[in-house]
This record gives sequence, structure tokens and C-alpha cells, in this order.
Amino acid sequence: MNASTATPLIAAKARALSGRVAVPGDKSVSHRALIFGALAVGTTRVTGLLEGEDVLNTARALRRLGVPIERGADGVWTVHGVGVGGLAEPDAVLDLGNSGTGARLLMGLVATHPFISFFTGDESLCRRPMARVTEPLTAMGARFVARDGSRLPLAVIGAKEPLPIEYRLPVPSAQVKSAILLAGLSAPGATSIIEPEPTRNHTENMLRHFGATVAVADGTDGRRITVTGEPELVASDLTVPGDPSSAAFPLVAALVVPGSQLTLPNIGLNPLRTGLFETLAEMGADITYENRRVEGGEPIADIVVRAGALNGVTVPAERAPRMIDEYPILAVAAAFAQGRTAMHGLKELRVKESDRLAATATGLAASGVTVAVEGDSLIVHGTGKPPAGGAAIAAKLDHRIAMSFLVMGMAAQQATRIDDGATIETSFPGFAALMNGAGATVRPA
Ligand code: S3P
Repeated sequence: MNASTATPLIAAKARALSGRVAVPGDKSVSHRALIFGALAVGTTRVTGLLEGEDVLNTARALRRLGVPIERGADGVWTVHGVGVGGLAEPDAVLDLGNSGTGARLLMGLVATHPFISFFTGDESLCRRPMARVTEPLTAMGARFVARDGSRLPLAVIGAKEPLPIEYRLPVPSAQVKSAILLAGLSAPGATSIIEPEPTRNHTENMLRHFGATVAVADGTDGRRITVTGEPELVASDLTVPGDPSSAAFPLVAALVVPGSQLTLPNIGLNPLRTGLFETLAEMGADITYENRRVEGGEPIADIVVRAGALNGVTVPAERAPRMIDEYPILAVAAAFAQGRTAMHGLKELRVKESDRLAATATGLAASGVTVAVEGDSLIVHGTGKPPAGGAAIAAKLDHRIAMSFLVMGMAAQQATRIDDGATIETSFPGFAALMNGAGATVRPA
């Protein structure tokens, strides 16, 4: 995305939000549905796939790796799997755009294929650290030639004779865990990850869904996940739940715009994703879960949310992996709450699509909110009244910063402007139209 395609947006005070807001499919599950479909033998049909730029880039990359993937007129995606180890050397650079998940998972996948591939991405992705995946993948036999030592663009020379490893995650990252598990599929024997703090387990769930053997055991040093290499994965249809990380935006909007009530149908409630919902409940939010069910191994429900007063809380560092993408929007909710909200353990926020700790604090301060960054903690002081707002926010190619501050604009005293709403297409296409349909006023600036 460059300056000429930037689409500035303004969010002004919304009227009470109401109705049903159907958020798009889960980003994490969508990437994995395409990747595992590609590795299975047979045809996998995926319903409810997120058609955001991040996932579309993963689909394009998989096609370059020799996997036929089509979208039907009914919106169902079909992946013609090539089997574990069956990918072909790509004849062009794999461009993952803005997506850390797409880049890191696919780097893991090709690391144990005996060919060379080249990865790049947008300005944001090219700034993000890749050593967290290249180091363990090097131990599995791959080689990397990377700009600045460990950043995209980079070349992967896949291992001819892949080695299984046992690896203790130095950072709580589902992307790193998943990259190693995917690499382990083409290695003989058992590949194990030990994660001191559990992170989202969609890869493990999906491995089982496609017939792989995965063992998970909780020990004193953390959770050990072991995959047995060289399995035959069997094609298996699946339905992608609504993304709880996307639901977070209309959810918080409904909490802070007076008089609102929204229903968010089919939201994934995997317990390793629900830290925000727990935190908002502690703040006094009126959120109920209806029609709870399990689909494709993931718990889901319809969420009903009503506006009301919120109180400041302390969010412990241990909760961070279960709500890592939700801190910018939680910080916006905290700006409307009464009292102090302290969010601890936010180091990883500095290496997301932008430095989210800095971007969130800067945006809140520009909106008239009292805010401080203390080490890896973010402290927000709310007065229980709408902040002044009126800020001009630089989105920095970060969809979640863009949406968080549009939600601020829906309920603050003055409208909020963001310099580029195009970035929202990565994870939540149609966000502005969907919110406007429920009563918001988001328009081109
Ligand atoms: C994701 C893992 C998280 C999250 C990202 C999606 C995944 O990243 O922030 O949006 O699908 O595995 P990290 O693994 O870097 O924490």
C-alpha cells in the first residue's frame, strides 16, 4: 500500500448501535484451513473463509507452490491438496503483503521442502523480526539468506534431509509454534515444542482435524506439543468461525456508544482467544453468550452486547497470549471506563503490524486521554466520560490501530480521522459499511 492508494476515513459520533453484525471469518483459522487443505490428500471445501488481503495472499502463495485453489460462486473455497511434502518450487517471489502469520507459517512449511523460495511483504512486514522462525528452522536443516540478518525479503533454501527438533519457545508465539509444527510434518520422527505460556492452538486442532497424530501434555515447564512427521493428511471440509479479534471492534463500539445493543453471530470462543471477553466482563460489561455450540472442533456462540458503564481493571501479564491482538481496542474501552486500567506484559505489541504499544498510547494521548507507557505496561486513566477525541491518527499499515481509533471516533466528543483505512482490508473487509449499517458514521475524509 502506498500513499497514492491511501483512503483517509473519519468516524463521527454514532447513534445507538443496533441489529446483527456478522463479522468475517477467523484470520488464524482461515490461513490454516488453506495450508492444511494444501497438505491433505484430496479436496477440502472451506466455508466462511476470511476473504481479507492477508488470507488472499496466503492463497496466492500456495498456488505458486503448486496447489490449485478456487473460490466458488457460492463463496465456498476449494483446495486440491497435494499431500505432505508435495509442494513444488515457486517460480516467483511469494509476497505475503501485511501478514506475519502467512509469512511465518509458509516459511516453516517450505523450510523442509528441498527447493528454494523467496519471501517478501509490505513495508510493515519487512520491518518485523523473522529470527524467531529462522533460528529453529535452521536447526531443522533449512538455510536462510535475509536482509539485515533476519528480515524480509529473504530466501529459504529448504532442507533436503529435514531433522525433527525439540524446541522451547523463547517468545509466546503461535506463529513460531505453527511454523515449526508445519516444518515437522516433512521431517521423520517426532517434532516437539514446549510453550511456557499456552498460545492459540488452531494448528494443533487442525492437524487433528486432518488426521495427524498430535500429543499435548502439560508439565511443570509448560505445555509440550508433539507432532509425528510424514503423516498422510486426509482432506476434510470445514467451516471457519467468526473472528473474535474482529468481533472485538463492534463489541467495544456497542459498549461505549450509549443506548447500543448488538448481536454478533457465530463468534469463535476458543479459550486461548477469549482474554478480552474475560477482561471486559471484569470491567462490568454487559455481554451474554447465546446458542453455544461446537463446530469443526472450535466452540462458538452468538454474542449479545449492551452499552453500559465500565470500570478500570488490572490485566495480568499471563493473560497477554490469550488476547494479544486486542490491547489497542481494550485501551479504547479503558479510555471510556471509570478509573485506572493497567495492562501488563505487552512486550510483543512492539513487533506487531506496527509498534502497537506506541501507536495506542500516542493515539489515546492525541484524543485527550491520560495514558502512560511504563516498561511493558500500558496505563490508561478513564474518567467515566467520553474523551475529547478529535485526533488525527496515523494507521501505520496496522488494521487494528485503524479500527480501534475509528471506534474511539464513534463515541468520543469529537470525530476521529485516520490517515489510511485501506489497511483494514487485511482482516476485516467491509468494516465501515457494516458499522454504518448498525448506526455508525464512518465516511471518507
Ligand atoms: C497469530 C498469532 C499471533 C497474532 C496474529 C495471529 C496466528 O501472533 O498476533 O494476529 O494466527 O498464529 P504471534 O504468534 O506473533 O503472537
